Amino acid sequence: SPLARKLCAMPKAELHMHIEGSLEPELIFALAERNGVTLPYPSVDALRDAYAFTDLQSFLDIYYAGASVLLTEQDFYDMTWAYVERAVADHIVHTEIFFDPQTHIARGVPVEVVVNGISRALDDAEARHGLSSRMILCFLRHLSEEDAFATLASAEACFKTVPRLIGVGLDSSEQGNPPEKFARVFARCEALGLRRVAHAGEEGPAQNIRDALDLLHAERIDHGVTAIEDQALLQRLAAEKIALTVCPLSNVKLKVFDDMTAHSLPMLLDAGVAVTLNSDDPAYFGGYLNTNYLAVFEALPLGEETGYLLARNSLEAAFATDEEKARWV
Ligand code: ADE
Ligand code: ZN
Repeated sequence: SPLARKLCAMPKAELHMHIEGSLEPELIFALAERNGVTLPYPSVDALRDAYAFTDLQSFLDIYYAGASVLLTEQDFYDMTWAYVERAVADHIVHTEIFFDPQTHIARGVPVEVVVNGISRALDDAEARHGLSSRMILCFLRHLSEEDAFATLASAEACFKTVPRLIGVGLDSSEQGNPPEKFARVFARCEALGLRRVAHAGEEGPAQNIRDALDLLHAERIDHGVTAIEDQALLQRLAAEKIALTVCPLSNVKLKVFDDMTAHSLPMLLDAGVAVTLNSDDPAYFGGYLNTNYLAVFEALPLGEETGYLLARNSLEAAFATDEEKARWV
């Protein structure tokens, strides 16, 4: 349809995409073979068949198993380059990539290997495709505060030497691991001059969104879809122009909503919140960014103006320079 074509062709930014979640089953098997890693699945099809999630944790277990094939800088380069080609095809002009160093450090992979592999692919993306980007190091919230501090210390040289590595995030299991657990880590990151985002209000209560703002000084909220439980919070998000990086296909696959027609997106938009659309873990949730746009506009009564609003929100909420932003308008 004409609307679908416009949605796909709009220039947009992606602000919530875990690079380990872009590993397609075929690449997981290719890297396993290259590295001599044995997977607990006999075939690509058997792995894909395991992508029947009941909640966030059931996904995370398989996501960390998939990431176990990543060992060398070239592995991280190849994974990132595969995503870059998808991003360019979806008319993404700027992307901010999350990565989970702790899941790699635990397997003996130094954080420099992770950062350099991703960063080198993003350098090539900028040179060859004009795709600008940033990297955001995410702390795994199911691990301890001490582990997060140790990870930050091991990455300090990377923050100084890799210009596109600009901030930190907080991901993994929201239930039982509230923002307050990482208040001191995020205070240290703020003192280091790092940008801050946090997953909050994905499966957890709206209070986690408040705490991510007040205790972590998060500048954007990843997901935030449970904000609709709290009218005062909705007003605050709108007034303070706190962007939400919403991931529609992810929310349906992880059963946050029964189906796309039940998504809280229209209520967030009605409240005037700066919503953006994102793919989260595109290899696991059924599609990249344009597939998310199409699924939303297929299921919900939203028009072309809303499409442009969502894309404009993503460009405005990016951690990009004014010079970069000027190129997009
Ligand atoms: N890690 C990768 N995807 C995630 C998600 N949707 N929520 C929390 N942690 C994640
Ligand atoms: Zn996420």
